[in-house]
Amino acid sequence: MPSPSARVSGILPSGKDGWEVHFAALTRKQAGEPIVMLSVGDHDFDTPSDTVEAAIRHVRAGHHHYTQLPGLPRLREIMARQSTRCTGVETTAAQVIATPGGQAALFAAVQATCDPGSHAVVVAPYYATYPGTFRVAGADFTVVEARPEDGFQPDPTVIEAAIRPETRAILINTPNNPTGAVYSRASLEAIADICRRRDLWLLSDEVYWTITGEGREHLSPRALPGMAERTLVINSMSKSHGMTGWRIGWLTGPETLITLLIGLNLVSTYGLPDFVSRAALEALDNDWGVAEIAERYARRREAFLAAIRNLPSVTVRGSEGGMYVMLDISAIEADCETFAWNLLQAEKIAVMPGSSFGEAAAGHVRISLCQPEDVLADAAARLKRFVAGYRSRAA
Ligand SMILES: Cc1ncc(COP(=O)(O)O)c(C=O)c1O
Repeated sequence: MPSPSARVSGILPSGKDGWEVHFAALTRKQAGEPIVMLSVGDHDFDTPSDTVEAAIRHVRAGHHHYTQLPGLPRLREIMARQSTRCTGVETTAAQVIATPGGQAALFAAVQATCDPGSHAVVVAPYYATYPGTFRVAGADFTVVEARPEDGFQPDPTVIEAAIRPETRAILINTPNNPTGAVYSRASLEAIADICRRRDLWLLSDEVYWTITGEGREHLSPRALPGMAERTLVINSMSKSHGMTGWRIGWLTGPETLITLLIGLNLVSTYGLPDFVSRAALEALDNDWGVAEIAERYARRREAFLAAIRNLPSVTVRGSEGGMYVMLDISAIEADCETFAWNLLQAEKIAVMPGSSFGEAAAGHVRISLCQPEDVLADAAARLKRFVAGYRSRAA
């Protein structure tokens, strides 16, 4: 065949990417082994039945057609209302664009702010798609590490030091995947200050905004002084509304930029599915599942952390919100991938090696809370047994 473009060839790096443990575990599970999958970030429960019933109703009612490129007008209105809640900034329908999932909102945000040759600063540990999303835009990026000993709060000094003349944007994610860290007001204010002084966009991935842990309020940097004009907020219904497979999300930002992005939808998605949009707008309007899902993860996190409390040589880092717990296991095993392989072998538990989310998370494992509480309790017991026996086995 003729050669493919350098652009698509360069999205994914070749070689290992840290997901090997997950895929090996999945293969064994599919072959019938009782593997406990704590490696993925997809809910173990179905979409709330109200949302499912609404979709069926809308399919039956003949909503099978093209929709407006930026989203159905009513969907945009309701997304704007949710953005007002999420970010604390009064938001109009013209300031949001509907996208197929949070990833497409992130893709749009990067396309909207970076040209080939532009540069961005990405705070690590980060969600796995971030590097590829900049590569496909032809943009360069510098990864700056939020340190485990700071509870994975970002360090404004290293962020600022990474800025170059061609830097256009900083990308952050709170509550964070993979660390579960919820960025503090002080961290966000310092980052906002950099964006204002250096005239940068802030791309703020807030897809876990409803899952902040018990009693914790979400703070969006868009709410900080002078930030609404330079912040693009990535939202999604995947996590908050239990709708990962429905592919609905949205991007919020200044109207001028959002209007330009309608052109991106013209040449990429050509709009969202009609009946999915209608079910989604009802789910958003009624908050179907939101409180239950947030409470479920808060309960699971609390129970899991209580079960492994006082586990010798294991330190909990971040782990405040989102759907994950991050454990520093470096005192037991320097190589987190080896730890994950051994855990799979000995206890049939699959976790993600932290190194697959960037160097900052090396020496850690990410544990997904996407399993029922009894499964998590059993996994915690097995993890304790495994840790207790690790040194003697390694010796
Ligand atoms: C931090 C973060 N951003 C974005 C996404 C993408 O979300 P979606 O499933 O809506 O595309 C995910 C999904 O896991 C995520 O963890």
